[in-house]
Formats: sequence, structure tokens, C-alpha cells
Amino acid sequence: MCGIVGYIGRKKARSILIEGLKRLEYRGYDSAGVALLEGERIAITRAVGRIANLERVLADTESGATVGIAHTRWATHGRPSEANAHPHAALSGRIALVHNGIVENYRALRTYLQQHGVECTTETDTEVLAHLVGHFYNGSLEQAVRYALQEVQGTYGIAVLSADEPDRLIVARKGSPLIVGVGDGEYIVASDAAAIVEHTARVVYLSDGEIAVVGMDGFRTTTLEAVPVTKKLDDLEFTLEQIELGGHEHFMAKEIFEQPLSLANTLSGRINAREGTVHLGGIACESRTLARAKRIIFTAQGTAWHAGLVGEYLFEDVAKLPAETEFASEFRYRNPLIDDGTVIIAISQSGETADTLAAVREAKIKGALTLGVVNAVGSTIAREADAGVYLHCGPEIGVASTKAFMSQVAVLTMMAIELGRRRFLSGQDAWQLIQALDRIPEQVDRILAESDHIRSVVEKVIERENWLFLGRGYNYPIALEGALKLKEISYIHAEGMPAAEMKHGPIALINAGMPVVFIATRGQQYDKVLGNIEEVRSRGGRVIAVATEGDTEIDHLAEHVFRVPDVPEPLQPMVTVVPLQLLAYHAAVLRGCNVDKPRNLAKSVTVE
Ligand code: G6P
Repeated sequence: MCGIVGYIGRKKARSILIEGLKRLEYRGYDSAGVALLEGERIAITRAVGRIANLERVLADTESGATVGIAHTRWATHGRPSEANAHPHAALSGRIALVHNGIVENYRALRTYLQQHGVECTTETDTEVLAHLVGHFYNGSLEQAVRYALQEVQGTYGIAVLSADEPDRLIVARKGSPLIVGVGDGEYIVASDAAAIVEHTARVVYLSDGEIAVVGMDGFRTTTLEAVPVTKKLDDLEFTLEQIELGGHEHFMAKEIFEQPLSLANTLSGRINAREGTVHLGGIACESRTLARAKRIIFTAQGTAWHAGLVGEYLFEDVAKLPAETEFASEFRYRNPLIDDGTVIIAISQSGETADTLAAVREAKIKGALTLGVVNAVGSTIAREADAGVYLHCGPEIGVASTKAFMSQVAVLTMMAIELGRRRFLSGQDAWQLIQALDRIPEQVDRILAESDHIRSVVEKVIERENWLFLGRGYNYPIALEGALKLKEISYIHAEGMPAAEMKHGPIALINAGMPVVFIATRGQQYDKVLGNIEEVRSRGGRVIAVATEGDTEIDHLAEHVFRVPDVPEPLQPMVTVVPLQLLAYHAAVLRGCNVDKPRNLAKSVTVE
């Protein structure tokens, strides 16, 4: 979603800001803009569409500015247009502001401004905020921002610039991330560390309700109420190479193919295959509470929600703990019944998804232990959860989540085994699972070698606009994930569901040639899945099966088969998801879709 970059230092700001915006492109956006302090005035340039469009407009001019702010916008209030793009100006262009989040009471604030003779000209909530800062400006930008934010209901990450105070940027956050990168005689502020890492690895994460005044030679942080706050310097965990393509055509391909490595990183230092033990340092202090829990609620959105669903099967099967999975957007508003035996596990790659964060906060208000399964180190959910486990799978840039899903499932598997050992799982059973888990990265590598075969199958069915994905047990969430992957990047309509559910309606859709993907690996419900395959075949559907290596029975039933290694059932999601990721990827490429920047989607959904 929207991205912020700001620079103050001794170098030319314009190219740094533009490069920073490009690093945030993966988040999704529809317009972009930049405000530069050129001598005594602020020059604002905005363009609809790609950052390349903004660069084209800027190409005619030179810039000597060493201070500026920039933004990529993902429209919420008002359509994507040059006028609605950020930065927004106030006080006849003396102030410029960029904003992520939503000012919920912007209508009331707009009326208030009108009553004070200030007219807004765009449809955005952000313009209102810019004018509000202008309205309160009386010689101190910091004070004006403070007063303005005290009037705001909603969420914000902002960066503000004043032509009358050229030696500073003001940034603030509430519910939308803001990071200050501390360089040598320069500062880069951004909503996402990807825009900072090229310049410095030393960062400060602002917390909700904090304002930072960032100057050339230092910065200070206070609360909204002007109480000074001492911030700690953190180190970024990832490097520039990790957020570059490294020879792949798309980030999604890079991330699919690096799964053997990223998964190994997730497992590293946490499982001891020789001893058959798991140690998750991040939740060690809560492991007794967790083991005594009466109920686990996984909460998440999107692909992370599918990982939660796998977690539900794992926790009930391996740890013998009642578990359920709920969309964070529902959980947060339904006044959930939580007693002190309930533990909430929030799963989020970004650690910034607005609904998932709100669910964590709701659970904390109700006194539940909250755990985070998060990738982005230092993100809001990671900091607000009582304890948690990082994925350590490296930054994920492709909008369609792949390696993060793999690592989320791996973390939940490790949690289930560790928890199981504290409850009913025997040492021998745990040992076997851990042995098998340790082999998964290498087995994923073998599946990836099937990429060309999967592509050749996709070529045969690429013209079909409706697909079904069916699975049972542990592979039901994978059916959902396979369908989501396909629809989000190739725009083919796909539905995933438990295989048995097909007979309760969706079977009516099956006609000659409709592709139906079955996850039909060997396991408790294998025979039942074969029965479902027969039902599809007899109605003319084209069956594509994900099946276990060595299974020859399936060859008689399915038109195409993608093989995966034989692994214990609780670990199957980590192998069965891989061919479906490749299937979606090849489908999107074959259809000429923008794989890494699918239409209308955002990498991190930071508004409701
Ligand atoms: C967006 C992304 C998905 C992701 C979901 C949850 O919809 O496009 O790929 O699964 O948000 O994101 P999170 O960062 O919380 O895992």
C-alpha cells in the first residue's frame, strides 16, 4: 500500500527519494509524487501510474535540493489522479505533507477548515491533514503537526516539510509504520525498511503516538503530548542483495526458488535433528502458559490466514490442543469470547496488516496471551505481541506470498511439536517428525526441478477461466492457497474448498474441460480423494493432481500429475503448496500479467 520516503542530508535528495520509491513499488500503488526544498520554496511534482511517469515529468528540471519527501499512493479516498496524489500542500505551498493511513474524521475536519476560510480542492483525507497543519502553523512546524494530529481520528504515518524550516523533517506515526534510518550526516525516513537499507542498516522504529524531528545532525523523539522519548537504535536484519532480483525475472520466482534456503533459515538453530528436539527462543518464556492453554485462536488475513488454518490442523493433531482460525477482520469486531485459557497467535508476514494488528490489540485488552508469527523484524505486531517467533525467511517482495507462507507453516509445525512434547506427543513421534522436517528444504528443491513440467501442463489449460482446487485434511488449506495464488496474479477465477464440499454446489460448475486441481497425496483420506476425482472425471473435468512420488494408481485417474516426495501427513502442506505456487506463477507469465504488481493488490494492507 502507500509508501513514504523522506531525506535530509548533504546529498542530492531527488534521486535518493526516487530510488527509495522504487524500492517500495512492490507494496502496490497507483500514483506517486515528490516534494523538494529548492532554495526558498517547495517544488511538488506528481504523476499517475508508475514511478517512471514521475521520472519523465522530472526529467526536464534540475534539482539541487538536499531535503525532500516522496510518496507512492494506493487510492482509498478519491480516485487515482495527479491532484489526489501526494505530497499535498498547505499555506500556498509553504508546507508539504505525505501520509499513509486514513483520517477517519476528515469530513468534520474539512468543515472545520472551511469555517476558518481554508478550502480543500481534492477528494482526499490527506489534503485535509496538510491544511490542518497549515492552519495551526505559527512559526513551529513541530508544534503545528502536534496540534493537527491531536485532532485526527484514524491512522497515519506522515512526513512533513516546511519551506520556512528547511533544516528539518517532521515525521509521526499512529497505526502506520515509520522508520528513521540513521546515516552518516544524513537521515532517510521511510514507511518500509526496503527504502532505507541501501543507505544505512541503523534504524529507529517509531512507536504509535510518537513524533520525530529529524535534522541534518540529529533527531529527537517525543510523544504527541511533547514528552521526550529515548529511542534505541536497531540493526536492519536484511541486506540490499536480498531485495534485488538476483537474475530472476520476477520477485515471485526468486522467492519460490529460494524456499529451500529460506525454509532452512527458518528451521536453523530451532530444530535439533540428532536429538529430535525443538527450541523456539522467542516463546520460551511463555511455553508453560501455552502448554496449559485451553484453546488457541489463529488470526490473520490472506495467505497468512491459510497458514493459520494449517496451524489449526497441526495443533489439534500434533499438540492435541483445540484450535480455530479466524479472519482478524472478523475477530476484532465480534467482541470475541476470550478467557484466560485462550492464547491468540497472530500470523503476518509484514507485521503491519491493520486488521491483524487490531485483533492483537483486542486480544490484549481481553487479557489473552498474544503471540506473533511475523517476518518483518521490528514491525508493529512483532513489538506489540507478548512474545513470538520470527520467520527469518528474508524480505518478501512479491505481492503474492510464497516463501513467507512456507516459513509460517514451518514455524507453526515447530510450535505444534514443541507444544505436543509438553502434552501428549511421545519422544519417538516427535523425533520422527523432526527428522522429516529437517529433510523438507532439500525435498522442496526437488519439487522446484519440476517447474518446466508444470509450465507445460499450464500451457494446455491456460485458456480456461474457471478452476477448482480441492483437498482434504491438511491439504484443504493448500487448496485454498492454490486457488488464491492463481486468482491473485493471473486473474483466472479459482475457488478452493474441501474436496467433499464440491458435492454441495460447486459440482454444478463442472463441465467438459474445466481444470480441477486435486491435492491427492497419500494419507488417511487418500481413497476418498480418489472418489472425488472420479466424480469430476465423469463430468468431463480435466484433473490435475498433486500426488506422492511412486503413486501409480493416480496416473489412471488424473490427466496430469505433479509429484511431491512422500512426507508424514502433518508436513505435507510444505511440499504440496510448491507445485501450486509454480502453477500460478507460470499461468500469470503465460497470460502476460504483471506478476509482482498484480492489479488492485497491495503487499501489506495497512488500512481496513
Ligand atoms: C495482503 C497480501 C497477501 C498477504 C496478506 C496478509 O493481502 O497481498 O499476500 O497474505 O495481505 O499480509 P501479512 O503481511 O499480514 O501476512
